[in-house]
Amino acid sequence: MKSKVSIIGAGMTGSTAAHWLAEREIADLVLVDVVEGMPQGKALDLQEALPVIGKDVSVTGSNDYAATAGSDIIVITAGLPRKPGMSRDDLLFANTNIVKKATEATIQYSPDAIYIVLTNPLDVMAYVTLKTAGLDPHRVIGQAGVLDSARMRAFVSMDLGVSIENIHCYVLGGHGDNMVPLTRASNVAGIPLEDILPADRLEAIVDRTRKGGGEIVSLLKTGSAYYAPAAAIAQMVEAILKDKHLIVPAAAYLTGQYGLKDIFFGVPVQLGRKGVEKVYEYQLSDQEMAALKKSAEGVKENIAKLNF
Ligand code: APR
Repeated sequence: MKSKVSIIGAGMTGSTAAHWLAEREIADLVLVDVVEGMPQGKALDLQEALPVIGKDVSVTGSNDYAATAGSDIIVITAGLPRKPGMSRDDLLFANTNIVKKATEATIQYSPDAIYIVLTNPLDVMAYVTLKTAGLDPHRVIGQAGVLDSARMRAFVSMDLGVSIENIHCYVLGGHGDNMVPLTRASNVAGIPLEDILPADRLEAIVDRTRKGGGEIVSLLKTGSAYYAPAAAIAQMVEAILKDKHLIVPAAAYLTGQYGLKDIFFGVPVQLGRKGVEKVYEYQLSDQEMAALKKSAEGVKENIAKLNF
């Protein structure tokens, strides 16, 4: 039997995720959105593209959550995107209501689903899903670290002219401007970034990575990034459905790791059929740990505002 993945929010990120996923031919797909006709239209358009690329999956769109019944994975991208000048935290209250509704509406139809949450502010929205549905924490993952690390890899590749396949970068922490690109653990074909790049160029890459989302927002002017966030979703979905035990940076619920508790935070997680199988801990320097704590403060403050 084919797996089923439902994507809540058929906007730019949700529909692009469906596109990347359809190309991987790993699950039937359902797009749900509040806008009438839009998820149906996008789903049909994508379904009609599949003969061209030779992929056999079904893609349906709906305004009714009943269409999501029996999903293996629910991806939540529903919400308002950032506009220029807006921080991810500005979205906090509006998106909390949307994510809460999407969680309540989906969990009744897919009681065994694993959730991947993308709506921003992402670390807090993953917390909203977890607490709303009362799930075991291994079934809720926030997507951010794959994206942030991919951005850093792209910037290193652009600087050095080396294939992205040789570049491994790890970005931890909250999905905000205080995220922590781990330059010590990042490398090009095993050579630490700190050895291959002069300090000023490395610093520029770290800075651009931290502000990577904002850079796209100010260029697009009418929305936020979607190709890279959606590609990150597809990688995580595939890791789960194929039970790959793939380690990726992603937001997981912490129970003491890195000295943090009751918070979703970007850390290396192992993904498999059960969701988060394991959280890995780096031996961090005092400076890295301090940066991580600073990033965690912002996430904790927002969680506190929600009174869950
Ligand atoms: N239920 C379902 N869909 C909803 C709801 C809801 N209650 N509220 C809004 N939506 C839909 C909108 O109709 C829209 O189609 O969510 C979709 C969001 O899509 P876009 O506006 O295109 O935003 P996008 O760029 O995809 O970003 C979505 O992901 O990366 C984050 O910060 C980003 O929080 C934002 C989210």
